Amino acid sequence: MTTDVVIVGVGGMGREVYRVICLLNTPEPDQPRWRVLGFVDDYPTEPDVALVHRLGVPFLGSTRRLGGLPPSTRVALGVGRPRLRRETAEAIARYGLPAATVIHPDAEIGADCVVGAGLFAAGGARVTTNVVLGRHVHLNQNCTVGHDAVLGDYVSVNPLAAVSGHCRLADGVMVGTTAAVLPRLAVGRDAVVGAGACVTRDVPAGVVVTGVPARPTPPSVPDARPVVMAAHGRQDEVDHPA
Ligand SMILES: CC(C)(COP(=O)(O)OP(=O)(O)OC[C@H]1O[C@@H](n2cnc3c(N)ncnc32)[C@H](O)[C@@H]1OP(=O)(O)O)[C@@H](O)C(=O)NCCC(=O)NCCS
Repeated sequence: MTTDVVIVGVGGMGREVYRVICLLNTPEPDQPRWRVLGFVDDYPTEPDVALVHRLGVPFLGSTRRLGGLPPSTRVALGVGRPRLRRETAEAIARYGLPAATVIHPDAEIGADCVVGAGLFAAGGARVTTNVVLGRHVHLNQNCTVGHDAVLGDYVSVNPLAAVSGHCRLADGVMVGTTAAVLPRLAVGRDAVVGAGACVTRDVPAGVVVTGVPARPTPPSVPDARPVVMAAHGRQDEVDHPA
């Protein structure tokens, strides 16, 4: 059966999601698993839209285009940053479209794992046994998640990062590229583990840690994300031609 899907986000993550969907379609080109209707994005950049067109896929416009699609149409969130992914999911919830779960053929999710809707697992992601993944979790290339770990909603584990057994990552946590979280540790809501860090103690909510061993790092510049949130608040004023 072929399922229609729209990818939210024309940036790199959205286009990576598209690539995995193409791979999933490859074994049965006559009866593809997914039919990509196009990309939507409320704040696209011209270069990203050009790259989408280069892939031969339509850019449909803003997320308002999700309104009016058949209710069976799935939505794949190609938004890398956990907080922005959460905001995006909340903003499009009014359209009531189900989330697409996209798992690369070379990703491995243990049969006894619990997987929330909207999982994106890139090539080489490995999740072993008795792991719980919340909604819209992103597991990037070649990351690992060990036994009995629990990852909340909108968690991102970036390329080559290792989340050890029995870890608990709360909603919105980002584990940076090549970072490690040692066994049985807890990382609080919306915390960020910097690239290359080694987490040896629990991390409180909202804190950025870097280094080996990982220690809290004050933000170097004022966080730009509230601007994005404000922009989402104005999204009814912003639209893009189809
Ligand atoms: C930790 C992090 C969140 C900090 O972001 P930021 O606040 O924008 O930090 P900046 O880039 O402005 O750097 C601020 C300082 O921290 C240092 N720094 C940045 N990231 C660091 C890291 N991961 N480890 C150690 N030091 C780091 C910088 O060298 C800089 O130091 P300086 O002031 O002495 O020059 C970010 O650098 C990071 O590691 N993000 C993970 C990204 C990732 O995994 N992306 C993969 C996508 S697939």
